[in-house]
Amino acid sequence: MSVFNLKSTIRINCAKRCSIYLKQEVEALGYKVDEATDASVQITGTLVDCMKLNLYLRTAYRVMFLLESFEAENPDQLYETLVALPWEEYIESKGYISISSFVENDFITDTRFANLKVKDAIVDRMKQKTGDRPDSGPETNKMVLYLYWKDRDASIFIDTSGDTIAKHGYRKYTVKAPMQEALAASVIMATKWDKQSAFINPMCGSGTLAIEAALMAMNKAPGLMRDNFGYCHIKGYDEKIHDEMHREAALKMNPKLSFPIISSDNDKRAVDASRTNARVARVDNLIRFENCDFEETTIIDRNKGIVILNPEYGERMGEADILEVTYAAIGDFFKKKCKGYTGYIFTGNMDLAKKVRLATKRKIEFYNGKIDCRLLEYELYEGTRVEKAVVSDKE
Ligand SMILES: C[S@@+](CC[C@H](N)C(=O)[O-])C[C@H]1O[C@@H](n2cnc3c(N)ncnc32)[C@H](O)[C@@H]1O
Repeated sequence: MSVFNLKSTIRINCAKRCSIYLKQEVEALGYKVDEATDASVQITGTLVDCMKLNLYLRTAYRVMFLLESFEAENPDQLYETLVALPWEEYIESKGYISISSFVENDFITDTRFANLKVKDAIVDRMKQKTGDRPDSGPETNKMVLYLYWKDRDASIFIDTSGDTIAKHGYRKYTVKAPMQEALAASVIMATKWDKQSAFINPMCGSGTLAIEAALMAMNKAPGLMRDNFGYCHIKGYDEKIHDEMHREAALKMNPKLSFPIISSDNDKRAVDASRTNARVARVDNLIRFENCDFEETTIIDRNKGIVILNPEYGERMGEADILEVTYAAIGDFFKKKCKGYTGYIFTGNMDLAKKVRLATKRKIEFYNGKIDCRLLEYELYEGTRVEKAVVSDKE
């Protein structure tokens, strides 16, 4: 039997505070979630399931297939358990492996030493069983193994993603403080956007939010924009299964949208970068780009949908004073021009957010890297819509 049909635990990582969105995605693909933490979701499945998860997940960092969980009290015990695993069933004898790890215990202070022990165990086993040994090094675009070792609990995984799937492969150019693609997908999932009404993104920077919105609305799987994954380097990998899965995903795409996605920035370089990135993602025909101040962004009259901005947070000295004016102007823009929409601001600076001077309906917690952030939601009521809602409530 191919190792691709063996069942085990699959651990999927994501950014801290994003596992609720990851869980939704995993469940929508038909999997039952066994366990979840703040930054991971666990299911049971095969390496073929890992291929599917790598193809479809938007909010994940990496998909890891568990080979063994065990106890180890020192590096020698780690080696002894690992050298007994059937590595020759997973790794090509003349292949290439890269080891990464998370280690937090008293036995090892330098994770590189743990990585070395893992590599030695694999190489010794392979030499003994096949007479050959794989090469090893830092490149993560081939076979990647991941060691998790906290106190005595150790787990060794195949990282079936290889290079992280948090990047969706289209971002060739970036300008100021780009949002990571997986985070942008989580942020959009946290909004109430229905993927059927206007998505307006002033201050678009490199265009990540608008591009992710277009990809979601047209149902384009992010894995379609990439052809190399860690699983492609596992012994027994069948390219035909990969091709068939990708063909099926491509057939699910809806190339036309009946609503606008608008992306604007007052910096022409940002608009150019967004347009190029959108072209690489093949969604440039679905997004309207505007080079203007955020207040001048086209807001389709009497339409419903969302307006979402990710202004700078003012991390450098003196910036916050200037940004206070910008945040206050966003509040005015929402109030005067965006009636009927739901407004969102993603920011890492709550003092600046207070300058918006509108009541928030929800404050959703995120991290952008290490920065504690919030997605702030504002219901921007419009007279006629409120009245209509009241009438229908009575009916
Ligand atoms: C933090 S970046 C947005 C990053 C974006 N979310 C991404 O993923 O690349 C903020 C953007 O706001 C733009 N900006 C700042 N002030 C603006 C204004 N008054 N009108 C329009 N855009 C503005 C900047 O040029 C910058 O590209």
